[in-house]
Amino acid sequence: MSNTDWVLVTGAAHRLGRETALAFADAGWNVICHYRMSLAGAQDTQAAVRALGRECLLAPADLADPDAATQLLQQCLQLTGTAPRCIVNNASIFEADDARTASADALLRHFQTNTATPLLLANTLHNWVLAQNMPAHGRYSVVHVLDQKVHNLNPDYFSYTVSKLALERSVALQAQALAPQVRVCGLSPGLIYLSGPQTQDNFDRAAQVNLLRQPINPAEVARCALFIAGNTSLNGCTLQADNGQHLVPLERDVMFVIEENLRP
Ligand SMILES: NC(=O)c1ccc[n+]([C@@H]2O[C@H](COP(=O)([O-])OP(=O)(O)OC[C@H]3O[C@@H](n4cnc5c(N)ncnc54)[C@H](OP(=O)(O)O)[C@@H]3O)[C@@H](O)[C@H]2O)c1
Repeated sequence: MSNTDWVLVTGAAHRLGRETALAFADAGWNVICHYRMSLAGAQDTQAAVRALGRECLLAPADLADPDAATQLLQQCLQLTGTAPRCIVNNASIFEADDARTASADALLRHFQTNTATPLLLANTLHNWVLAQNMPAHGRYSVVHVLDQKVHNLNPDYFSYTVSKLALERSVALQAQALAPQVRVCGLSPGLIYLSGPQTQDNFDRAAQVNLLRQPINPAEVARCALFIAGNTSLNGCTLQADNGQHLVPLERDVMFVIEENLRP
């Protein structure tokens, strides 16, 4: 890869987004670190990328805004003079509800941030590559970050799951529609971080609920995104980086299963 190659990682101030930014930087990529609220975290990611000898520029955007995709790509063009060679759609919201209580507001909010904007970012990148009128040779790619939940269904976190299911189903459709300019793949992590109302004790137990009975390494999940970006044979497929968690079916979200098992 050349030293003008940029990756845009959404939600890169913390957790998996930060790991992803560092995995790409470690492999020689420059990084556009998108954030919404977490300026200090984004600056921390920026410093960590620069410590690896690569450039990192910050791009704020609220991905719940219907115009966010166009505006974010515009920011990338202004910051770097070119479009990112890879976009990792990592940012998402994850709010608790279930199939019986989900509200229209929660469904629409999850869909806008977790589904619509990632899809539109891919389309926007495709339109830019098309306008360059040059053979892309599979160099441009989009990685939609999904969740093992979409391969292992239960009705908890309903709005979130529906938003990720729609994104997962779109991987093949976008790969077909955006070829040959842009490759589109999915990446489904298992449980990697403590989220929402989960306690540390619950998380420590839940992190073992996979075929390997050990926590998933976030750096390895991040390196899957890098692998997709660098391997031009991959298109329209989804990598499952979850220690085999999707092969351990549960009737409820793992957090609730652990909670129920701990009850006296
Ligand atoms: N955590 C897990 O165990 C797990 C398991 C399976 C799949 N995943 C998937 O992996 C990805 C990363 O997970 P994570 O837990 O590391 O993410 P996270 O910490 O829950 O969220 C990442 C970032 O998303 C950004 N974000 C949320 N709403 C936004 C909006 N409207 N506009 C712009 N940015 C917004 C936030 O940025 P700011 O802080 O800057 O506002 C946040 O820091 C997600 O797609 C998630 O669904 C995670």
